[in-house]
Amino acid sequence: MDDRWIRWPQQTTAGRDRLVGFGGDYNPEQWDESVWREDARLMVEAGVNLVTVGVFAWSALQPAPDRWEFGWLDRVMDLMADHGIAVDLATATASTPSWVTTLHPDVLAVDRFGHTMAQGGRQAWSPSSRVYRRLSLELVHRMAERYGSHPALALWHVSNELGGHNAHCYGEEAARAFRTWLRERYGDSIQRLNDAWQTLVWSQRYADWEEIQPPRATFTDPNPSQLLDFERFSSDQLRAQLRAEAAVLRRATPDIPITTNLILFDAGKRMAYSTWTDDLDIVSSDHYLQPVRDAHPEAEFSADRARGLADGRPWMLMETAPGQTSWRRVNPAKRSGQLRRDVFSYIARGSDTVCFFQWRAARAGAERFHSAMLPHGGPDTDAFRDVVALGRDLARCAELAGSVVEADCALVLSEESWWALERADHPHNGLSATETLLAWHRALTDLGATVDVVPPTADLGRYPLVVVPQLYLVDDADAERIAAVARDGGTVVIGSFSGIVDEFDHVRLGGYPGAFRDLLGLRVEQFWPLLDDETVVLDGLGTDGRARRWAEVIATEGARVEATLLDGDLAGGPAVTRMRHGETGSAWYVGAELDGDSLGALFRRILADQGLALPLVSSPALRVVTRVSTDGDRFHVLINHSGVDETVVADGTDLLDGSSHAGTVTVPAGAVRVLRGSLSREPLAAVTAG
Ligand code: GLA
Repeated sequence: MDDRWIRWPQQTTAGRDRLVGFGGDYNPEQWDESVWREDARLMVEAGVNLVTVGVFAWSALQPAPDRWEFGWLDRVMDLMADHGIAVDLATATASTPSWVTTLHPDVLAVDRFGHTMAQGGRQAWSPSSRVYRRLSLELVHRMAERYGSHPALALWHVSNELGGHNAHCYGEEAARAFRTWLRERYGDSIQRLNDAWQTLVWSQRYADWEEIQPPRATFTDPNPSQLLDFERFSSDQLRAQLRAEAAVLRRATPDIPITTNLILFDAGKRMAYSTWTDDLDIVSSDHYLQPVRDAHPEAEFSADRARGLADGRPWMLMETAPGQTSWRRVNPAKRSGQLRRDVFSYIARGSDTVCFFQWRAARAGAERFHSAMLPHGGPDTDAFRDVVALGRDLARCAELAGSVVEADCALVLSEESWWALERADHPHNGLSATETLLAWHRALTDLGATVDVVPPTADLGRYPLVVVPQLYLVDDADAERIAAVARDGGTVVIGSFSGIVDEFDHVRLGGYPGAFRDLLGLRVEQFWPLLDDETVVLDGLGTDGRARRWAEVIATEGARVEATLLDGDLAGGPAVTRMRHGETGSAWYVGAELDGDSLGALFRRILADQGLALPLVSSPALRVVTRVSTDGDRFHVLINHSGVDETVVADGTDLLDGSSHAGTVTVPAGAVRVLRGSLSREPLAAVTAG
C-alpha cells in the first residue's frame, strides 16, 4: 500500500494537488476475485481516481443475522489503495438481505393500495420501519469501525438514492409514524389538524389521532392538504435515515466527509432535498438524461439545481450513464462526441467530479444491458477508448477543481409547490411545473445567462434578477422574500398560477394571486385554461409568439401592460405586466403560458430594460459558463452543441488541448474547450462591427 490516497473534496485538503474526480460505481462482489486485478489495472489506464463501492453489498457483508463477511471488502479496499484510487464507501444499507425481510416482514414497504412490496427487487424497505433502522445502523457502525481509518476511504456514501423507489410507504407502521409526525406538527391539537386539512369538506373530520391514515387509495381524489403533509412526512422520514446514518459516521470518523446521491430529476421530485443539505458535507447528484435528441438543456437544469442546493459550492456528479440506460422504453446510445459534451455540461456548472453507473458492465441482473465504463466487449472497444480519453481530458482540467460558477440570475424552485401543482383538482390538470421550470431555464440559458436554480429560502437578495416560473404554493415568509428583491431595487419575474395557495394548499382569498397581488400591482379575476387545440396570439413581445394551455383575465392595479392577448375570448387583455418599485425595482408577471420564442423575447427585453448586462454569446447552441478560482483565475467552459463552428472573442489557453488563443477562439462543431483567460460576452459580430 502506498500513500497516494486521496481525500475528498479535494479542495479542502491543504497541500495536495487538485483533481477532478473520475470513476463510477464499482460492484466487485458481483465478480470473481480474479477479475478485480484487471479492474484495477484498467481503472488506472482510464485515469479513474474515485470509485463508489458497496452500494448493494449488504447481503455479501452480512449473509445471516450473526455472520459478517468483511474479508472480500478488505481486499477490495486494499486493492484500491494500492492503485491510488479513492473510495466513496457506501454504507451498504440501500437494499436489505432476504433474511431481514424473512425474519421481519414488517420491514417491507406497502403501496397505497395495500400491496406489500416483495423482496427480490431493491430498496423494498419502509422508511418508517424501526427494525430496518436498527439493523441498518448496526451495519453502518461496523462499516465505520472497520474502514474509518483505511487509506482508500475518501468519502462516505449514505445509502443510495434515498427514496428513489420507496419514498412513500402506506403500511401500518408508517401510519403510526405519520400520526406521531402530525401530532408534533400540530402541537398535539386535533383541532389544528382539522383546520389545516379543512376536514369538514366531504365529512372528513377527525375526533382522534388514531383515526388518521396515510392517504391510501380512495375512490375520489384524497384531501390535498393531507397529501401535502404526507409528502412532507415521507421526505422527513428519509432525511431521518440519512441523519441517523450520518450521526453514526460522524461519531466514528469526524474527518471523513459525508454525502448521499440525490436524484435531481424524475423520481427525485418526491424528496424535499432543500431540507436535507445541512446534513451533507458535499452535495452529490445522479442524473440520467431523457432519451431525446438535444437533451442537454435538461442536464444543464439538473446541474444548476445541484449547484443551487450546494449553495454555489462545487458538487459531485455521482452517477450518470456513459452510454445508454436500460430502464426506459428505448435506450439510445450516445452519439459521437455526446459523452464529452454531456460530461462537460456538469463540469461547467460546478461539478468537480464525473462518476458513472457503473465501472464494469453487469453480465446478469436487472441492469445487465445498462452501459458501463468498461462494456461487455472489454477494453478493445470505442466505448472504453472514449472513457480513457475522457479520463485524460478531466486530468487536464485539474486546476478547475474548487472554482465556483459565476451566475447571472436565480430561478426559484419550490419542491412543495411542485408536489402541490402536479396533482389533480386544478383548473387545468395538464399544467406541469417540470415543463415550466425547464422552459424558463432554457430561455435564459439560450440567451447566455448562467442560472442558479435555488429554493425560495435561498439568499435571493444577491441576484439582480430572480425568476419564479411556477410557485402555485407559497407561504408568507417565502412570498415576502421574493417581494423584497423588487422592493430592494432588483427584478422579479413571476409566472402564472403562482401565489395561489398557502402552505396548507388553502386558496388565498380576495383575488388571485393572493401572495403577490401588491407586488405585481394586479388582480387575476378569472383563470382561463385553454383547450388542447386552442392557442392565443401574443402582441407586444416582438415575435409571432403564442400562449397555450393557460391564460387569465387580469385587471391591473398599478402595473403597466407590456404584452397583450391578440385574439380569442380575452383579446386585448394583458398577458405580461410590469409593476415598478422605487427607482430600479420591477416585478413582472407572465399571466399566460408562453411558448419558447416568446419567453426568449421577454427575457431579452427584461435584461435590457433593467440595464442588466446581456450575457449574450454568439449562438444558443454554444454554451459558455465561467468558473472562477480563489486565485482569480477564470475558466470558461465552451460547449458547441451545433454542427457548425462557433467563434467568440477571448484570449487564453485551452486546458484540454493546450492551444493558445489571442483575440478570438473558435470552438469547432460539437467540440468542447476549457479556456483559462478572458472572454467577452459580446457576440463576435457586435465586437467586429464596433
Ligand atoms: C440509479 C441507481 C444505480 C443504477 C442506475 C442505473 O441511479 O442509483 O444503482 O440503478 O440508476 O441507471
